[in-house]
Amino acid sequence: MNDTAQQPIGVFDSGVGGLSVLQALRAELPHERFVYLADSGHAPYGERGDAYVAARTHAISDFLCAQHHIKALVVACNTATAAAIHEARVRHPQLPLVGVEPALKPAVAATRTGHVGVIGTRGTLGSAKFARLLASLEGQARFTIQPCDGLAHAIERSTAHPPTATQDATEIRALCAQYTGAMGPFGTEEGAIDTLVLGCTHYVFAQDILRDLLGPDVALIATGEPVARQTRRLLQTAHALACQETPLGADAVTVFTTGALEPLQNAVGRWLQLPARCCSTVDL
Ligand code: DGL
Repeated sequence: MNDTAQQPIGVFDSGVGGLSVLQALRAELPHERFVYLADSGHAPYGERGDAYVAARTHAISDFLCAQHHIKALVVACNTATAAAIHEARVRHPQLPLVGVEPALKPAVAATRTGHVGVIGTRGTLGSAKFARLLASLEGQARFTIQPCDGLAHAIERSTAHPPTATQDATEIRALCAQYTGAMGPFGTEEGAIDTLVLGCTHYVFAQDILRDLLGPDVALIATGEPVARQTRRLLQTAHALACQETPLGADAVTVFTTGALEPLQNAVGRWLQLPARCCSTVDL
């Protein structure tokens, strides 16, 4: 094993949404160490401009490289990937880098009605990168695109309270109902949307609500697992996979936030079953 193999994998998002990607990464790569940064002090990214999101992406990637000597970086945020991954690759040419983008290709493969819905942030869905992805699939399916202002922020805020706080669930449900209601009928009937792409990593944590609203026949497509597999492939190619004999436990994960500590501790306990001691704040 070379020295690089011992180093952690860096992962970041505007907040807690990327924990859905970290979940998939830990399942795919149980022998790896991870450093996750939730930029909750600056979230949400989705309704800010590209320049702001790019500046945050560079500050975070520089911090993870300089302070944590990461061996790879997963940008677990569709908005940051769309705004800044290209520049991040130029800035860190040696670093294996994985971004996330709305999973349109798997959705095209999955749809039976030929009608795919895509939800995401305004930043992602309005980006040139997304326009290129959409154009590359022209003619293969009909797409209905819906930016969901406020939804990631509502999911972010819900981590400040116990999971039973009905006010949070009611707000998230109302936003999901409003946005999916504007997209047209969902279901398996001819012309209806039977496949919904979750184009923002936060929305994975609203999956149960979406399933309840849309019914069991609508497929919800997230990106965590393919991103985790791609991360494995890149590390393999770089001969940088960790090779401990046994899977690592909770101490293999360090989580930072630029926002308040308690909501992050709630989120990692709720969604990743990690102890509060994994979490710290950082000023960035
Ligand atoms: N989780 C992020 C994404 O995947 C962004 C949410 C936000 O900060 O608006 O796009």
